[in-house]
Amino acid sequence: MIEEKILPYICHVFVCTNDRHGERKSCADGDNPSVRSLLKEAVGERGWAGKVRVSQSGCLGLCMKGPNVLIYPQKIWFSSVTESDVPDIMKKIEPIITE
Ligand code: FES
Repeated sequence: MIEEKILPYICHVFVCTNDRHGERKSCADGDNPSVRSLLKEAVGERGWAGKVRVSQSGCLGLCMKGPNVLIYPQKIWFSSVTESDVPDIMKKIEPIITE
């Protein structure tokens, strides 16, 4: 039987790590696998682990603009993400967590 619950997180960060192995553009062509690790580390360092969940995702549908990172339910979409963008993504999350 299906179970329905309320999400425990204030926001959920989805990092597309879809890899098409060069057959077509995909987010794993860029930094996203390491971006995911860096975001997880940054969330842990700030003690946000119970509030912010960082998850890898499959294709989000905007591959040509990738690597892509989404923040839900705030509907924030980052494209062309690199490792150097992680601090800016964390700055975007901070006010969401402290609201
Ligand atoms: S491969 Fe990442 S959005 Fe499609």
